[in-house]
Amino acid sequence: MARLKETLLTLVWLVNKSQIQDQELQVLLKLRQSWQDPSSLDHWVASNSSSHCAWPEIKCQEGLITELNLVNLNINYSIPLFICDLKNLTKLNLSYNNIPGEFPTVLYNCSKLVYLDLSQNYFEGLIPSDIDRMADLQALILAANSFSFDVPASVARLRRLRILHLYMSEYNGTYHEEIFGLSNLEELSLGYNDKFVPSQLPQNFTALKKLRFFSMPQMNLFGRILETVSDMEALEHLDLGKNPLTGEIPGSIFALRNLSELYVYKTNVSGSIPQAVSAANLSVIDLSLNNLMGNIPEVFGQLKNLYSSNLEFNQLSGGIPEHVASLPALSDIRLSNNNISGTIPLDFGKFSPLRRFEVAFNNLTGAFPEQLCHGGTLFGLAAMDNNLSGELPGSLGNCSTLLLVMLNNNGFTGNVPAGLWMSRNLTALLLSGNGLTGELPKELSPKLNRIEMSNNKFFGKIPSMMSSWRNLVVFDASNNLLSGTVPAELTVLPSLTTLLLGQNKLSGNLPTDIVSWKSLTTLDLSHNKISGPIPSKIGLLPVLTQLDLSDNQLSGLIPPEFGQLNLNRLNLSSNRLSGPIPAILENAAYDVSFLNNLGLCASNSFMRINVCSTQSRRSSKTNLTLIVILAIAAAMCVLLVVLFMIRASRKNRDWFDSTPKLTPFQSLNFTESNILSGLKEPNVIGSGGSGKVYRIVVNPSGHTVAVKRILNNRKLDEKLEKQFVAEVEILGNIKHLHIVKLLCSISCENSKLLVYDYMENSSLDHWLHKKNRLSPVSGVSNNMILDWPKRLQIALGAAKGLCYMHNEFKEKIADFGLARMLAKPGEAVSMTVVAGSFGSLAPVNEKIDVYSFEIVLSELTTGREAHDGNEDMGLAEWAYFHFDQGKPISDVIDEEIRDNSSLDQISNVFKLGIFCTAKLPSTRPTMKEVVQMLLKCSDPHYDVEKKFQHNLDAAPLLGNSK
Ligand SMILES: *[C@@H]1O[C@H](CO)[C@@H](O)[C@H](O)[C@H]1NC(C)=O
Ligand SMILES: *[C@@H]1O[C@H](CO)[C@@H](O)[C@H](O)[C@H]1NC(C)=O
Ligand SMILES: *[C@@H]1O[C@H](CO)[C@@H](O)[C@H](O)[C@H]1NC(C)=O
Ligand SMILES: *[C@@H]1O[C@H](CO)[C@@H](O)[C@H](O)[C@H]1NC(C)=O
Repeated sequence: MARLKETLLTLVWLVNKSQIQDQELQVLLKLRQSWQDPSSLDHWVASNSSSHCAWPEIKCQEGLITELNLVNLNINYSIPLFICDLKNLTKLNLSYNNIPGEFPTVLYNCSKLVYLDLSQNYFEGLIPSDIDRMADLQALILAANSFSFDVPASVARLRRLRILHLYMSEYNGTYHEEIFGLSNLEELSLGYNDKFVPSQLPQNFTALKKLRFFSMPQMNLFGRILETVSDMEALEHLDLGKNPLTGEIPGSIFALRNLSELYVYKTNVSGSIPQAVSAANLSVIDLSLNNLMGNIPEVFGQLKNLYSSNLEFNQLSGGIPEHVASLPALSDIRLSNNNISGTIPLDFGKFSPLRRFEVAFNNLTGAFPEQLCHGGTLFGLAAMDNNLSGELPGSLGNCSTLLLVMLNNNGFTGNVPAGLWMSRNLTALLLSGNGLTGELPKELSPKLNRIEMSNNKFFGKIPSMMSSWRNLVVFDASNNLLSGTVPAELTVLPSLTTLLLGQNKLSGNLPTDIVSWKSLTTLDLSHNKISGPIPSKIGLLPVLTQLDLSDNQLSGLIPPEFGQLNLNRLNLSSNRLSGPIPAILENAAYDVSFLNNLGLCASNSFMRINVCSTQSRRSSKTNLTLIVILAIAAAMCVLLVVLFMIRASRKNRDWFDSTPKLTPFQSLNFTESNILSGLKEPNVIGSGGSGKVYRIVVNPSGHTVAVKRILNNRKLDEKLEKQFVAEVEILGNIKHLHIVKLLCSISCENSKLLVYDYMENSSLDHWLHKKNRLSPVSGVSNNMILDWPKRLQIALGAAKGLCYMHNEFKEKIADFGLARMLAKPGEAVSMTVVAGSFGSLAPVNEKIDVYSFEIVLSELTTGREAHDGNEDMGLAEWAYFHFDQGKPISDVIDEEIRDNSSLDQISNVFKLGIFCTAKLPSTRPTMKEVVQMLLKCSDPHYDVEKKFQHNLDAAPLLGNSK
């Protein structure tokens, strides 16, 4: 009887349990439904054969659900109340979804919850002041959301907490100091919250005796790091980086026996680095970007576990301690940008699995260590800008892990180790500015895309078997002793964007058939002995923006195809060219582009070369009478011409040889003659390869327009003419906040005019470029500064405009060169970009616009002009280069916005610009992504670099990326 009762009870319990299990299954199915059935949960279906406890997101105990791990499942809706019908739920992880709304207080009903992870969602608002109702919580992870205001005291009442992660949110108040009284805490991170009201670390912080992980970067902590930090005996990881800390680094930090990772980067700490005492466990130390002085302590050589040591961007002096070179765990050593002198210990690499070895921008002398790659793991080598000498170690030729080698600006001599060129993974080899010699390699590593070897003594011919050079993007071999011709095979390289071969001894004709320089933007063959004609195909290169062929022996005509280029920089000076220059190039922007070519002439005198005469000149011995007669005749001629012009200008200008056709897009308060009469030099406010932009006051009330004049010296054929009209009509009908309204177009036989509303405060040039500010343009006050928020707004506006063009008008304008021109000629985009693009009828490639957009971003962040940068580099190149070398971005930011609290934002925008110029167009972001990223740039935690790191060849070596 008793046994029967027992059996029955068991049965009842079993039935009961299976009922609960079924209920739990129903909860899950309802959950899935309430989240609108994300495809990531397609496998959540009832089945007889297996229990829901087998689904990967679920963990059960005795058949009841205890854990839900719903990570990264594309959940876009809020958490429903009934989730707490899972009565035994102890762990809930919903991180990496897109859940919106306030903190889900529905979870208060989950009475057994111990572990809650809601990180990486879109939660916002306050952390509730009664969150302590979840009294059992041991882990509260709310990081990377948009919670704002204060971190309330209620959090500090969750006495059982062992893990508290609140990093990366929008807190703009304070955090409650009692948090530091949560004595069970093992992990605490409040970092990357730089809107926190500035504060000092509270005195009681060292009471956290169980704390292992303490991460407080970038949250406005000021003051000193207290000696008592050593009271936190359990500490393994300490991050105080990116805070305005002052004082010195207390030696007591190194008394923390368990400390393994120490980050105090980018603060204002100064003084010397303390002698490390007993921190034998230290494996990562990052003290970069501070004001540290003095020597690198000798005891660093005893840190047997040291894996990564970053001391770059300080003012450290003295030598590199000998014993550091033989540390058995050392993988990354970064000492760049200090004043370190002496020689590099030659043992480096012999005993360590080195991956990164960076000592650039110091005063190091002597030979380079032989065995850096001994461990077979070295991928990054940066030693540029020192005084190193001797030959490059032959062992570098057998180091197949190498990714990036930067040895430029030293005193290295001898040959480049043969194997280095073919090193299997090498992407960039920078050797410029040494005394290296030898011939160019016939074979290159297929991954090598950047070779810089200028200012050396390389000699011999450019090889003609270059199939393995196919992936080269930048090749700079200027100022060497290269001879022979420019082989046609070089023109096959499809990815090449930059080819610099100036200042060599190249001779012979240029190849006439340029096969595939589809990506070439910069070509410099200046200061050689190249002869023969300029190949007309150069004029057809689709994205060429800089061309320097000066100081050669080129002869013949300038190919008319050159009129189709959109050049920011052109130099054909000092050759033997002859004939008239193409009319389209008769532009003040090119007034020093044709100097010293005896046979060349122009129809305008501002071109600083001979003015073309219609008849050949007669040299004659003239007598005084003749001179007088000629003078009178000339004077009369001038008078006549002036009279004629005055009259003509009342109708239209003489270079309009047919009746202009005006197409209005809205009602106008001016006529075409108002426009035509204003097209004179004093009204020019910008010019580029294809024409000029005028600022014209069109009627007495002061209405001002910007007129873009596109000169076409050849008559457009009828089809193109029609197309022009059609396209312009589309543009005229675009209504978008960020695209300047096109008022009308005026079409004449050899000239097209596009008339826009003139935006006051226009032309970024005037705002940004100091040079131009000296020459005031009416309407623009010179001492106004364009502050960062305005600049960001401009960037965003321009991006939105372009984005709109790309997405809404893709088909219609796809093969018309208007998109770039369209970005507001006034407010949004500087003249360099706006003016340089139209008239060529070059196909618009969205990704090329993205590339051009980088120039806008760079101009906005650095205040430099598009063709500025460095001597031979465009702004885009220069920006990349600066970044690539790991120089601090703050160095290049426009002084006027530099001491600004938005420095991180500005760096983000600068970096975004760099990603817009990624070598492969396909890896550039779309304009849509650019807009999104610009929007996020105002979020201080957003790090553009993280998103794009994989796009950069040199990613792992882009220093100081914190
Ligand atoms: C589930 O919760 C119930 C009620 O709170 C409890 O009796 C049971 O022991 C729990 N089961 C497990 C496996 O935690
Ligand atoms: C569960 O939620 C309901 C509705 O919000 C509420 O009325 C109830 O008191 C909650 N139960 C517990 C135990 O908190
Ligand atoms: C803090 O941020 C919230 C949300 O963005 C905002 O409403 C509030 O005004 C801010 N408070 C302060 C003091 O800036
Ligand atoms: C072109 O080169 C000549 C010297 O060869 C120089 O005087 C001139 O300024 C250069 N022009 C441009 C546009 O760089």
